[in-house]
Amino acid sequence: MSKKFFIKTFGCQMNVYDSHRIAIMLENFGFEETSVQSEADLVLFNTCHIREKAAEKVFSDLGRAYLIKQERAVLNKDTIIGVTGCVVQAEDEQIAKRAPYVDFALGPLTYHRLPEILTEISRQKGQTLIDTDFPAEAKFDFLPQNRAEGGCSFLAVQEGCNNFCTYCVVPYTRGAEYSRPVEEILEEARHLIKTGTLEINLLGQNVNSYHGEDKSGKERNFAYLLNKVAELEGLKRLRYTTSYPADVDDDLIECHHNLKQLMPYLHLPVQSGSNKILKAMNRRHNREQYLEKVEKLMTANPDLRMSSDFIVGFPGETDEDFEQTLSLVNQVQYIQAFSFKYSRRAGTPAAVMINQVEEKVKKQRLDTLQNLLFDYQTKFNMSCVGKEFDVLFEQNGRHKGQLIGRTPYMQNLHAKADKSLLNKIVRVRVESATTNSLCGKVV
Ligand code: 5AD
Ligand code: SF4
Repeated sequence: MSKKFFIKTFGCQMNVYDSHRIAIMLENFGFEETSVQSEADLVLFNTCHIREKAAEKVFSDLGRAYLIKQERAVLNKDTIIGVTGCVVQAEDEQIAKRAPYVDFALGPLTYHRLPEILTEISRQKGQTLIDTDFPAEAKFDFLPQNRAEGGCSFLAVQEGCNNFCTYCVVPYTRGAEYSRPVEEILEEARHLIKTGTLEINLLGQNVNSYHGEDKSGKERNFAYLLNKVAELEGLKRLRYTTSYPADVDDDLIECHHNLKQLMPYLHLPVQSGSNKILKAMNRRHNREQYLEKVEKLMTANPDLRMSSDFIVGFPGETDEDFEQTLSLVNQVQYIQAFSFKYSRRAGTPAAVMINQVEEKVKKQRLDTLQNLLFDYQTKFNMSCVGKEFDVLFEQNGRHKGQLIGRTPYMQNLHAKADKSLLNKIVRVRVESATTNSLCGKVV
């Protein structure tokens, strides 16, 4: 009987992508995936360090995993517990101290060494093996080929960050920017399409600062890569995330005019509407520059709609600064957004700023902002009622005979639909809408 692994993923889409690649690696190593943790011979947590809450969750999950490990030991079953992802990069010593029963911990740039580590563990029981190198070799060269899991796939094209926003851990956890070569990305994309992908979402912490080499060794920008991926036969939809406003150049804006595969939805985090706060955050854009980029993008494709990330309660944020954020939301009218209370992250410049905002104020501002964001989201969803969209059905719905998919605008849509339509793009008429989803009828 083959050994089983269980993997739980925290955080961003990059982590979802990494977990998928880890799963393929483990399958090649003779493991089979299970969704039942207590059945697993190998339990893996792929972790996120972006905010305190996300990072702390891992330790409670680890505690639970240890209890299960002890229960299984009574039945003479071994359990390997492993941690990967950004928490490892930032808190490797903490893991070894707070959860000494963890067998191994691998950073986001070293998870390709998992097979070696597993072999090593069988030799050296009872010790936490840690590898948080920033290795010279690119992990992608060592991973087994990626393949589609459904109609929609992520593809990492760039990793790491050189921007050093003063609140953010990413430059420390994911390291300096690295762009994969164009050919390598196209090869992975072709294989994803061959195995059933209709939609590719190109990923990177700063995806549009991509600057990978083409076959001849020439450095190419993100727009070049988008054009190349869009040319691939069989690819119906293309998205990318997350982009950095200052790196949205004219070539990229043109892609939104020219490429029919590129979906009319763009996640372009602004973080704050106040120039004073943007400066303190070390963002390379101010409010006016951001708005100008949005306007140019929407001129290139008038159907385009925006989404964003916001942080409230950054050190020094006054009521007036916060008002600026609200007014920016009113200007752009985002159709979706993620908003967070500022979380102090050790080692980042903002963590030691003296003008920290009170928790109570942060909470109030978050409530106010989210109410406004939800209003626009609801309004947009309601405006879709009666319209038809192409929907890519991605999973079974909660009820029998129902499928859930995404519209071009990333809205969740559920409809009565036959299983045969799973992983297909289908024309659907929207019949009703709420803040979080649409309900439709297959046309
Ligand atoms: N506190 C709160 N939110 C943060 N983000 C990044 N770092 C922090 C932090 N220290 C948010 C930003 C980013 C998203 C991925 O997480 O909005 O765009
Ligand atoms: Fe979290 Fe950032 Fe790491 Fe993604 S890259 S898992 S958001 S810390």
